[in-house]
Amino acid sequence: MPLRRLLVVLAAVSLAAVTAAGDEKTCPGAPSMTVETACRNASGTQAMYDMCKNALGGVPDRLSDHDVTVYALAAENSALASVGATQDAAIKLVLYNSSLSHEERDAYMECSEVYTTAEHAMGNVLGKLDICSLNGLADDYMNGLLDLESCRDRVLKLPASPLYAMVLVDRNKAALAFVIGKLLGI
Ligand SMILES: *[C@@H]1O[C@H](CO)[C@@H](O)[C@H](O)[C@H]1NC(C)=O
Ligand SMILES: *[C@@H]1O[C@H](CO)[C@@H](O)[C@H](O)[C@H]1NC(C)=O
Repeated sequence: MPLRRLLVVLAAVSLAAVTAAGDEKTCPGAPSMTVETACRNASGTQAMYDMCKNALGGVPDRLSDHDVTVYALAAENSALASVGATQDAAIKLVLYNSSLSHEERDAYMECSEVYTTAEHAMGNVLGKLDICSLNGLADDYMNGLLDLESCRDRVLKLPASPLYAMVLVDRNKAALAFVIGKLLGI
C-alpha cells in the first residue's frame, strides 16, 4: 500500500476510534436525518419503504436524527443476515434433499458460490462503513448486488424452487442497503 493511502486509512481509523467513544457511529461529512427521512429518500415504492422501516427498526430513538452511517450499517447487516440464512438453506438442500433435480442442484451449488463472494463484498461494505471510508464503497455494494442477482436469475429459471422467495428478498434488501448507502454521497 502506498504511504499516502496508508496514512489516509490510518486517519480514518483513528477518527472512527474517537467517534466510537460516543454513543453511536458518526462519520465526518455524513448527513444526519431521522429514520423516516432516510427511508423516504431511499425508497421509490411502498414495498421498499416498508422494507426500509423494517431494516432500520432496531435503531434506537428513531424520531431523532442519526448519522446516515448508522442506517447504512443497519441495512447492510440486515441484508447480510438474510443472505447468510439463504446460503445455509441452499447448502442444506444440496446436502440433504434427495429429491432435487439436477438442474436445481446445479443452480443451488452455483448460488452457494456466488453467495460466498457476495458475503465477502458485503463484509467489505461493513468494514469500510466502520472506518468511515467511502473509497470503493459503491463498487463493493455493486459487486455484492451483482452476485445476488446472478443467483436470483438462475433460480428464476427453475420451474419451482423453495429458495425463490428468499433470493428475491436478499436481492431487494441488498439493493435497499445500497440506496441507503448512497445517502452518504457515494
Ligand atoms: C426438497 O426439494 C424439493 C424440490 O425442490 C422441494 O419441493 C422440497 O420442498 C424440498 N424439501 C425440503 C425439506 O426442503
Ligand atoms: C432527503 O430528502 C429530503 C426531503 O426531500 C431532502 O431535503 C434531503 O436533502 C435529502 N437528503 C439526502 C441526503 O438525500
